Amino acid sequence: HGELRGVVALDGPSGTGKSSAARRLAATLGARYLDTGAMYRAVTLAVLRAGVDPTDAERVAEVARTARLEQGDDPERSTTAVDGVDVGAEIRGPEVTLAVSPVSAVPEVRELLVARQREIIAAALERAGGIVVEGRDIGTVVVPDAGLKVYLTADAQARAQRRTRQDHASGRASTVDATLADVRRRDTYDSTRAVSPLRPAEDAVELDTTALDLAGVLAALVDLVERRGLRV
Ligand code: DC
Repeated sequence: HGELRGVVALDGPSGTGKSSAARRLAATLGARYLDTGAMYRAVTLAVLRAGVDPTDAERVAEVARTARLEQGDDPERSTTAVDGVDVGAEIRGPEVTLAVSPVSAVPEVRELLVARQREIIAAALERAGGIVVEGRDIGTVVVPDAGLKVYLTADAQARAQRRTRQDHASGRASTVDATLADVRRRDTYDSTRAVSPLRPAEDAVELDTTALDLAGVLAALVDLVERRGLRV
């Protein structure tokens, strides 16, 4: 049972089982774990709390510059704090989910967060030797030289069902139909935005998770890591 050396980049839309798989992969490989979506969500929460319109790019950038964001990298306990207060639950709520697309489309927000992500990754590589990073642009922008890039996909219907189950498990009321509409809306927005649109890196391995459960996704990822010789 070796440990991960280097960076595994996991990209793809929401509802593919990406977060659960990324966290479990990191824990299995004794690696660190970075949830970059949580960072965009934390900025979005700060924007909403400041009463700023999420589509007002200038004011959104101002909030991103001044809010104090802390993102942990422990796979057993991924923490997110804004101005010293834990926001792990709030950033998953519907208000943030609705507003996160325009916030994450602001170029200055992306510049700030990508720089922060690269610092966290560099520190993790020095300390622990390996990190699993999940997001939308990890393989294309944040770490283009990652040792392994995986792009997770799944049918929109399967992703909406997964998201709805997660919502219910966290005590949030939602329906598959409403979630499917949200999944499609965010897919379109995230893949057509001008800055870092969601798309697979040219050298990413595509993994379709429609018919896989978490154990199946995890097994496929561990296999890819081993075949790349990243487990040492
Ligand atoms: O993975 P998630 O659903 O928590 O991500 C929330 C939003 O953040 C998603 O709609 C797109 C955006 N995001 C991004 O633009 N770039 C990333 N690396 C991660 C997330």
